[in-house]
Amino acid sequence: MILVIVLENYAYLVSSHNDSLACGTRGRPGFFVRTYGCQMNSRDSEKLSGLLLQLGYVQAITQEEADLVLYNTCCVRESAEDRIFGNLGRLKRTKKDKPELIIAVCGCMTQQPDIAEKIRTKHKYINLVFGTMNRHRLPEFLWRVISEKKQVIDISEETDLPELTDIPVTTREFPHKAGVNIMYGCDNFCSYCIVPYVRGREKSRPVEDILKEVTALAEDGVKEVMLLGQNVNSFAPSFPELLRKISYIPGIERIRFMTSHPKDCSDELIGIIKELPKVCDSIHLPIQSGSTKVLEDMNRKYTKEDYLSLVHRLRTAIPNIAISTDIIVGYPGETEEDFLETLDVVQKVRFSNAFTFLYSKRSGTPAALRTDTIPAKTASERFDRLIAEISPIQFTINQEKIGQVLPVMVEEITPTDYKGRTGDHSLVHFTCPTPLKQGDIVSVKVTNAKTYYLTGEFSHV
Ligand code: 5AD
Ligand code: SF4
Repeated sequence: MILVIVLENYAYLVSSHNDSLACGTRGRPGFFVRTYGCQMNSRDSEKLSGLLLQLGYVQAITQEEADLVLYNTCCVRESAEDRIFGNLGRLKRTKKDKPELIIAVCGCMTQQPDIAEKIRTKHKYINLVFGTMNRHRLPEFLWRVISEKKQVIDISEETDLPELTDIPVTTREFPHKAGVNIMYGCDNFCSYCIVPYVRGREKSRPVEDILKEVTALAEDGVKEVMLLGQNVNSFAPSFPELLRKISYIPGIERIRFMTSHPKDCSDELIGIIKELPKVCDSIHLPIQSGSTKVLEDMNRKYTKEDYLSLVHRLRTAIPNIAISTDIIVGYPGETEEDFLETLDVVQKVRFSNAFTFLYSKRSGTPAALRTDTIPAKTASERFDRLIAEISPIQFTINQEKIGQVLPVMVEEITPTDYKGRTGDHSLVHFTCPTPLKQGDIVSVKVTNAKTYYLTGEFSHV
């Protein structure tokens, strides 16, 4: 369906945009996609870029030289929205000198009806707004923007979200690794979180589609896949079985996944991580708070003890597993005692990485109705204390790796060294006497360690 629209409109759409360009000196109009937020958005952006390439656009290197700028947005915290509107304000000024510039905004932020309405009334320079559940209709929307010459806003919710599987993704950020969305939406309704409202109900992609996409990626040189979903553990029919099937795909050497909800992390999953060598020994397991009372308020459906017992089961089965997490500080009603419970969990679990967030009120969520909010000063002090607790642990975990020889996948090649990742996702800067390319896996002896990275050298062992 998408392809039909694409092919029919292709020549006319692009030439129409091209004809209308102020300078009109180039062969084809250029697009620039800017992504905010999580890895799921990054993968969506790659697919949207693929769609634009199919329409005949070319990728612009910078936003300034683009004829179409698309922001794929996030709204998980207020700061993300503020940043996006700040950047849109700058684009408005660019448009004064370049009136034919098409400004398009999509994703989680625009899926909120009040934001779509705000753009309709106050940001008329934005040509196109669409949402998370109709993004496959981008060609049609662009067609309307160009032919009708008026603002197009459409955030309709389509339950049968087609995956853009057949769109060639030629603009991957890395040649050797890729994210793969295995499911969309979320049914968990954590009390603070906007995601279930802007991404809709949880829906797993058909296994065959996922295998087809990963196989195509592998044939295109991808060696590592990150399976993406808000709660991959509830993938239907079975996440462990999906991992097994992906591990059979030739060329795929490393399999990662995120995010795992602690309430759904089964012993079967732990068993499969242990069993399958391609599945990396690392897990992202957001705890959010160490206080059982706050966890209950957050509707997380596990207690502090449940979480600690899950960590115990993981470490018993896979002693070297790296556990990373997300923590929210300053949730309404969080007392000093609650916060101390969070610090206690940090000490007990020893996270190899933790993403820490100040609670951000999201209207429409149950938590936004609470009046027992935490003063900003108290929250930010707790935030600093939390970082001060986490960082030395990360440093110690890294120091313990000095002297070890670890398999490292090359991610980036700099003029002086290589940057790569271990199976447990530690970043390693290392040297090697022979040239390497992205995606190569080599043995590296760790010679030094800082809080956020290791240094090392190629090892023959
Ligand atoms: N405020 C602060 N952090 C939030 N997160 C989600 N919603 C909010 C919010 N309203 C964090 C959670 C989640 C991560 C992706 O973002 O920790 O795991
Ligand atoms: Fe948000 Fe909770 Fe769903 Fe994660 S599991 S996306 S925090 S509602």
